[in-house]
Amino acid sequence: MSNASPPTAQGPLKRVLVVVYTQTGQLSAIAHRLIEPLVDDADIAVHIENLRPEQAFPFPWPFFRFLDAFPESALMTPGHLAPLGVPAEAPFDLVILCYQVWFLAPSQPVTAFLQSDAGARLLGGRPVVTVVACRNMWLMAHRRLSALLAGVQARHLDNVVFTDRAPTFATLVTTPLWLLTGRRRVVPGLPPAGVADDDIRRSIRFGRALRDALRAGHERGDGPLLAGLGAACARPELLASEQAGTRSFRLWGRLLRRAGPPGAWQRVPLLGLYLVFLVAIIVTVIPVSLTLQAALRPVLRKRLAATKRAFEQPSGSGVERLAHYDF
Ligand SMILES: Cc1cc2nc3c(=O)[nH]c(=O)nc-3n(C[C@H](O)[C@H](O)[C@H](O)COP(=O)(O)O)c2cc1C
Repeated sequence: MSNASPPTAQGPLKRVLVVVYTQTGQLSAIAHRLIEPLVDDADIAVHIENLRPEQAFPFPWPFFRFLDAFPESALMTPGHLAPLGVPAEAPFDLVILCYQVWFLAPSQPVTAFLQSDAGARLLGGRPVVTVVACRNMWLMAHRRLSALLAGVQARHLDNVVFTDRAPTFATLVTTPLWLLTGRRRVVPGLPPAGVADDDIRRSIRFGRALRDALRAGHERGDGPLLAGLGAACARPELLASEQAGTRSFRLWGRLLRRAGPPGAWQRVPLLGLYLVFLVAIIVTVIPVSLTLQAALRPVLRKRLAATKRAFEQPSGSGVERLAHYDF
C-alpha cells in the first residue's frame, strides 16, 4: 500500500518503506499514527508492506496453538512469508521496521522477513528505524533484532519502544487473556491490555521528527534521528528474567522441535509440561529476581544504570526535543 499524495514534478524527494505485521491491529495503529507526517508530505513517498506468513497465525489464539508457537519463535526458525508487494531492489531512503515480541524474540513473521533474501536486499546498507510494541519484555528481542540487522549490514539508526504501562503482574494476566480471547478487558478491576491510546496518539512526534530529518538528509549520517523524544525507556531489572527465560526457551524449544513440526500431536504432552514449567518460572524467577535486585539496589545501581543506557541505544530516553515535536 502506498500514500496517495501526488509526487512533485521531479518525483518524491524521499522514499520510505514501512514494514508491519500485526494481529490485534495495535502495531499497525502505532505505525499509521507515527507515519502520518510522512504520508501527508508530498515530497515523501511511503510504501506500507504488510507481512503475510504463508501459514497464517490465528487470532485470537487457541490455547495450544499459542504455546506451540514458542519453539520456532524462541529458536528464530519461522516459516516462510508470502511474496512481498515490493520488489527487493526498490530504492528506499529509509526503512521503518515495526515488530512485536514473541517469546522474548522478534515475532516469527518479522524474523522471517529479516532472514529472507528479499528482506536482506531491502535492508542492506539502508538506514533503519525499528518500532517495537509489546507487553514489556523487549530487551532480548531488541538485542536479537539488532544482530539480525547487523547481519544484513543495515544501519540501525533508531529504536522506538511502546509497552503496556500496567504493572508487570497485571500484564502477565491481561496480555495472555487478550491474545486468547481477542478482548482487551476480560477481568474486571484489571487495566485493559496493550499500549495506552495516549501513547499511540503521541507516536506522531516521531513521524514529525523523521519528516524533518529526511528533508535535511540526516538519514545519510550515522547518528540517531529520534534522540530527545523519549523513544526508548528500558527497565534493566527485567533483563535477568529475560535472560533466564531465553535460556530455558531455547532448551525446551530444541526438545519440542525434536518431537515434531509445528502442529504435531506429539508436541502436546511436552507443551503441557512446558506450561507447568513456564508458570513456575513466572511465579518464582520474576518475583525473586525483582526482589533480590531491589534489595541489592545500592550495590547494583551503577550496573543497572549502564545496562539501561546500553539497551536504550541508539535513540535514548532523553526528552529534550519533546517541546518541539510533541504537541
Ligand atoms: C505468541 C506470542 C508471544 C508473545 N510473547 C511476548 C513476550 O515475550 N514479551 C512481550 O513483552 N510481549 C509478548 N507478546 C505480546 C506481543 O508482543 C504484542 O504486544 C501483542 O501480540 C499484540 O501485537 P500485535 O497485535 O501488533 O501483533 C506475545 C504475543 C504473542 C502472540
